[in-house]
Amino acid sequence: MRARKQTRHGKSPQGATEKSATEGSLSLEELRAKAARCRACDLWKNATQTVFGEGAERSIVMFVGEQPGDQEDRAGRPFVGPAGGLLDAVREEVGIDRRGVYVTNAVKHFKWEPRGKRRIHKKPSLREVAACKPWLAAEIDTVKPKVVVCLGATAAQALLGPKARVTRDRGALLESEFGPPVMLTVHPASILRSPDQASRDEARARFREDLAKVSSFLKKARG
Ligand code: URA
Repeated sequence: MRARKQTRHGKSPQGATEKSATEGSLSLEELRAKAARCRACDLWKNATQTVFGEGAERSIVMFVGEQPGDQEDRAGRPFVGPAGGLLDAVREEVGIDRRGVYVTNAVKHFKWEPRGKRRIHKKPSLREVAACKPWLAAEIDTVKPKVVVCLGATAAQALLGPKARVTRDRGALLESEFGPPVMLTVHPASILRSPDQASRDEARARFREDLAKVSSFLKKARG
């Protein structure tokens, strides 16, 4: 499956060296190669590499996180760290097959600040999310998932705009300008940050309920 000549979601991701990056009929591999050279914002300067989405070109569900973390930045692959481990475990529990899953992020470079020897995650700005939006739009156009699941507020706002609220709207299927229905849920990293075991268990159970809804939606969509 190929991306349309230009996404309907605004400008192509243009950078100092990259003009009209999503123009033309592009496969995921071609998009990935172009995104590797993206200069649409400054985040590339401190990141190891662009971390593009991963999964089959015909995946039925797309999970969208915020941005790669430290481990993802080094590996060049999304969701390979602890948050990805939790996402995978819960996805398996609710019966969403890995082969039908595409995972990506709203922002494709790791934004961080130094703290001693560590690189600490920094939330991307609205401008950085907007600069990356054409890549996300191109991924959705190419993969054509039946549902897009936003993990946390940054992904929710990238897909639905600044008024999106995970606490208010989680678990429902919402319309978006991107085409497929969108569901909001929490970011798995927020579950891992829960202050104690009881709240972690509760947050995990609610996350599992949200993904179970995605699983039944996909089963119904398959007929
Ligand atoms: N958190 C994200 O939002 N994305 C990743 O790829 C890893 C952690």
